[in-house]
Amino acid sequence: MTEAFHYKGGELFCESVPVAAIARKVGTPVYIYSQNHFVRQVQAIKDAFRDVQPMVCYAVKANSNLGLLRALALAGAGFDTVSRGEIYRALRAGAEPGKIVFAGVGKQEHEIEYALEQGILMFNVESESELELIAKVAARLKADAPIALRINPDVDPQTHKYISTGKSENKFGIDLARAEQCLGRIRELKHLRLRGVHIHIGSQILKNDRHGEAIDRVLPFIERCRKMDFPLEYLNVGGGYGIAYDVGQGVDIAEFARVMLPKIKQSGLKMLSEPGRFISGNGGVMLTQVVHVKKSAEKDFLIVDAAMNDLIRPTIYQAFHKIWPARHPGLADGGVMGADSPLTDTNLGKDAQVYDVVGPVCESGDYFALGRKLPRMEQGELVAVFSAGAYGATMASNYNTRGRAAEVIVNGSEYWVARDRETVEDMIRGERLTPREVFKA
Ligand code: LLP
Repeated sequence: MTEAFHYKGGELFCESVPVAAIARKVGTPVYIYSQNHFVRQVQAIKDAFRDVQPMVCYAVKANSNLGLLRALALAGAGFDTVSRGEIYRALRAGAEPGKIVFAGVGKQEHEIEYALEQGILMFNVESESELELIAKVAARLKADAPIALRINPDVDPQTHKYISTGKSENKFGIDLARAEQCLGRIRELKHLRLRGVHIHIGSQILKNDRHGEAIDRVLPFIERCRKMDFPLEYLNVGGGYGIAYDVGQGVDIAEFARVMLPKIKQSGLKMLSEPGRFISGNGGVMLTQVVHVKKSAEKDFLIVDAAMNDLIRPTIYQAFHKIWPARHPGLADGGVMGADSPLTDTNLGKDAQVYDVVGPVCESGDYFALGRKLPRMEQGELVAVFSAGAYGATMASNYNTRGRAAEVIVNGSEYWVARDRETVEDMIRGERLTPREVFKA
């Protein structure tokens, strides 16, 4: 199958649209998404786990653009959310409330109330304190609150420490001993309905046995719930499946499934999974333009019009993102991340150059790549930062009073602006030059 992002005749395409055409129309920086990639990835998970017919709840935080959520909802996906705002987005996009799960260590009363009123599938409960609060709100609304206990299985996902969530030192989930104690309390709290067990051990997990180990740790707990006559229905195995950030990397989801399936079957529960990055990551690029080429005594800098406020992953996780010019005459045809990718050092051409690719923001941490070997580039050229469909636009900010980038969705040979570029007026909305009302101490 052709990758969503591929080179043909030396031009970068998203599906059947040359990305340069989008830049001409919409400007840069711009996020460009392949709708079909998102939908295909959901299907890939369903196929890999078809023996247990999983419910796939896309993790909205990875990329919450309404147009994409709508395409996913139409494709039958559910949604994993972590705030009232994300639940609202999912519903606006046409999600079925009965396919929405709600996680997060700091759920507030108003969020719990909203989620109950909407009739979501379940809350993934992360502490005893949260159990009490959900029970209180449910009692007030005279409603039943469906819950899953999020277990912290103390498994090392072997990923960057900021995105590890399954170890005992992490703030997420409830350890097994405490979870056991929670069962008695859930019994007492009349409005709680225990429907599932949840685990999510981290993100960008490349080793295919980590999820399996986490499931192993919770199987005895599931047995215990059964013995106590809790009518459990779901085992939510979380998300976290890694993707390719460089040529030829990435995971084979079928390999994850091979390890996980026997254990899921052993649990006797329905499988739910909540991947974000796997669905969205390689469905997006951030396209930016070279503003200046700058030489110093030591280095060559490509200064581009995108910055850390648009894509912060390199800055905070030292994340690697593949970068390449959108036009490269003479480059062989091929998908960007696959084994046949033309984006290799051998295809750099004789004009290869080592660059720091940086943004205009006033911080030395504002970079996309350091010491990167690339084809020689000139002012005005378009540069693609790949694997930017996950945790790109959703982590963007207005730092340096830079408006957030436009977002474009491509579907076959058509594309549309799914989020306008933010204007200065958008950015200062809500601020005042003078007080509207003055309060006295
Ligand atoms: N479920 C829960 C409860 C989560 O906390 C997360 C992600 C997911 C599912 C989805 O994980 P995924 O399948 O996308 O790995 N900003 C970081 C990633 C943070 C992940 C937070 N939780 C990054 O840019 O790498």
